[in-house]
Amino acid sequence: MAPSISHNEAADTHHLLLNHNRFIIWEDKYNLGIPILDEQHRGIVTLINSLHFGIQHHYIENTFAPVIEMMNDYTRIHFEIEEAFLEMLDFSRAERHRKLHHELMEQLLHVGNKSLYNKDPYPFLDFLKGWWISHICSEDLLFRDYLIGGAGG
Ligand SMILES: [Fe+2]
Ligand SMILES: [Fe+2]
Repeated sequence: MAPSISHNEAADTHHLLLNHNRFIIWEDKYNLGIPILDEQHRGIVTLINSLHFGIQHHYIENTFAPVIEMMNDYTRIHFEIEEAFLEMLDFSRAERHRKLHHELMEQLLHVGNKSLYNKDPYPFLDFLKGWWISHICSEDLLFRDYLIGGAGG
Protein backbone atom coordinates (compact mmCIF):
# COMPACT_ATOMS: atom_id res chain seq x y z
CA MET A 1 0.00 0.00 0.00
CA ALA A 2 1.33 3.43 -0.88
CA PRO A 3 2.34 5.54 2.11
CA SER A 4 -0.24 8.16 2.86
CA ILE A 5 0.73 11.76 3.34
CA SER A 6 -1.14 14.25 5.44
CA HIS A 7 -2.95 17.22 4.07
CA ASN A 8 -0.29 19.51 5.59
CA GLU A 9 2.58 17.56 4.03
CA ALA A 10 0.87 17.68 0.65
CA ALA A 11 0.33 21.43 1.02
CA ASP A 12 3.99 21.94 2.00
CA THR A 13 5.18 19.92 -0.99
CA HIS A 14 2.89 21.84 -3.28
CA HIS A 15 4.17 25.13 -1.91
CA LEU A 16 7.80 24.03 -2.26
CA LEU A 17 7.36 22.89 -5.85
CA LEU A 18 5.69 26.08 -6.96
CA ASN A 19 7.24 28.79 -4.82
CA HIS A 20 10.83 27.99 -3.98
CA ASN A 21 13.06 31.01 -4.35
CA ARG A 22 15.58 30.88 -7.12
CA PHE A 23 18.91 32.35 -6.11
CA ILE A 24 19.50 34.02 -9.47
CA ILE A 25 16.70 34.87 -11.86
CA TRP A 26 17.81 35.21 -15.45
CA GLU A 27 16.88 38.49 -17.10
CA ASP A 28 17.15 39.54 -20.75
CA LYS A 29 19.60 42.28 -19.81
CA TYR A 30 22.20 39.56 -19.16
CA ASN A 31 22.16 38.44 -22.81
CA LEU A 32 25.26 39.12 -24.87
CA GLY A 33 23.42 38.40 -28.09
CA ILE A 34 25.70 35.45 -28.87
CA PRO A 35 23.27 32.52 -28.51
CA ILE A 36 25.72 29.78 -27.54
CA LEU A 37 27.37 31.93 -24.87
CA ASP A 38 24.00 33.08 -23.53
CA GLU A 39 22.84 29.46 -23.31
CA GLN A 40 26.00 28.52 -21.45
CA HIS A 41 25.64 31.42 -19.03
CA ARG A 42 22.08 30.27 -18.35
CA GLY A 43 23.48 26.77 -17.83
CA ILE A 44 25.88 28.12 -15.21
CA VAL A 45 22.96 29.91 -13.50
CA THR A 46 21.02 26.63 -13.55
CA LEU A 47 23.84 24.89 -11.70
CA ILE A 48 24.20 27.72 -9.17
CA ASN A 49 20.44 27.62 -8.53
CA SER A 50 20.56 23.83 -8.12
CA LEU A 51 23.28 24.20 -5.51
CA HIS A 52 21.25 26.85 -3.71
CA PHE A 53 18.08 24.73 -3.82
CA GLY A 54 20.01 21.78 -2.39
CA ILE A 55 21.28 23.90 0.50
CA GLN A 56 17.89 25.41 1.24
CA HIS A 57 16.01 22.12 1.17
CA HIS A 58 18.57 19.78 2.71
CA TYR A 59 19.42 17.78 -0.40
CA ILE A 60 22.98 19.04 -0.34
CA GLU A 61 24.62 15.90 1.02
CA ASN A 62 23.92 13.96 -2.15
CA THR A 63 24.05 16.82 -4.62
CA PHE A 64 27.11 18.85 -3.62
CA ALA A 65 29.81 16.67 -5.19
CA PRO A 66 27.97 16.22 -8.53
CA VAL A 67 27.26 19.98 -8.73
CA ILE A 68 30.94 20.77 -8.15
CA GLU A 69 32.01 18.22 -10.77
CA MET A 70 29.51 19.52 -13.30
CA MET A 71 30.49 23.11 -12.57
CA ASN A 72 34.18 22.32 -13.14
CA ASP A 73 33.53 20.47 -16.39
CA TYR A 74 30.98 22.93 -17.71
CA THR A 75 33.19 25.92 -16.89
CA ARG A 76 36.08 24.39 -18.85
CA ILE A 77 33.78 23.90 -21.86
CA HIS A 78 32.36 27.40 -21.52
CA PHE A 79 35.74 29.15 -21.18
CA GLU A 80 37.12 27.20 -24.14
CA ILE A 81 34.24 28.28 -26.39
CA GLU A 82 34.12 31.86 -25.11
CA GLU A 83 37.84 32.26 -25.71
CA ALA A 84 37.43 30.93 -29.28
CA PHE A 85 34.83 33.68 -29.81
CA LEU A 86 37.21 36.29 -28.41
CA GLU A 87 39.76 35.29 -31.05
CA MET A 88 37.15 35.40 -33.84
CA LEU A 89 35.92 38.81 -32.73
CA ASP A 90 39.46 40.09 -32.47
CA PHE A 91 38.46 41.45 -29.07
CA SER A 92 41.20 43.80 -27.93
CA ARG A 93 40.92 42.67 -24.31
CA ALA A 94 41.12 38.97 -25.21
CA GLU A 95 44.41 38.33 -23.45
CA ARG A 96 43.24 39.99 -20.25
CA HIS A 97 39.98 38.05 -20.42
CA ARG A 98 41.77 34.74 -20.93
CA LYS A 99 43.88 35.52 -17.88
CA LEU A 100 40.75 36.21 -15.81
CA HIS A 101 39.34 32.84 -16.93
CA HIS A 102 42.54 31.10 -15.92
CA GLU A 103 42.41 32.67 -12.45
CA LEU A 104 38.70 31.89 -12.07
CA MET A 105 39.27 28.25 -13.02
CA GLU A 106 42.00 27.90 -10.41
CA GLN A 107 39.82 29.53 -7.75
CA LEU A 108 36.83 27.40 -8.73
CA LEU A 109 38.83 24.20 -8.25
CA HIS A 110 40.39 25.42 -5.01
CA VAL A 111 37.18 26.69 -3.36
CA GLY A 112 35.19 23.67 -4.59
CA ASN A 113 37.68 21.16 -3.19
CA LYS A 114 37.96 23.01 0.10
CA SER A 115 34.18 23.33 0.49
CA LEU A 116 33.73 19.65 -0.31
CA TYR A 117 36.45 18.64 2.15
CA ASN A 118 34.89 20.79 4.90
CA LYS A 119 31.37 19.66 3.93
CA ASP A 120 30.45 23.34 3.83
CA PRO A 121 28.78 24.48 0.58
CA TYR A 122 28.47 28.16 1.54
CA PRO A 123 31.98 29.33 0.52
CA PHE A 124 31.41 27.69 -2.86
CA LEU A 125 28.01 29.36 -3.25
CA ASP A 126 29.52 32.74 -2.25
CA PHE A 127 32.33 32.28 -4.74
CA LEU A 128 29.86 31.45 -7.53
CA LYS A 129 27.73 34.47 -6.67
CA GLY A 130 30.82 36.70 -6.85
CA TRP A 131 31.78 35.15 -10.17
CA TRP A 132 28.28 35.73 -11.52
CA ILE A 133 28.31 39.41 -10.50
CA SER A 134 31.92 40.34 -11.22
CA HIS A 135 32.58 38.31 -14.35
CA ILE A 136 29.47 37.17 -16.21
CA CYS A 137 27.47 40.32 -15.46
CA SER A 138 30.30 42.75 -16.08
CA GLU A 139 33.39 41.44 -17.89
CA ASP A 140 31.48 39.20 -20.31
CA LEU A 141 29.00 41.97 -21.11
CA LEU A 142 31.89 43.98 -22.56
CA PHE A 143 31.66 41.68 -25.63
CA ARG A 144 28.18 43.02 -26.26
CA ASP A 145 29.38 46.60 -25.96
CA TYR A 146 32.24 45.71 -28.26
CA LEU A 147 29.92 44.13 -30.82
CA ILE A 148 27.46 47.03 -30.67
CA GLY A 149 30.19 49.67 -30.66
CA GLY A 150 32.06 47.93 -33.44
CA ALA A 151 35.48 48.67 -31.98
CA GLY A 152 37.40 49.78 -29.00
CA GLY A 153 36.62 46.76 -26.73
FE1 LIG B 1 31.25 33.71 -19.86
FE1 LIG C 1 34.32 35.28 -19.58
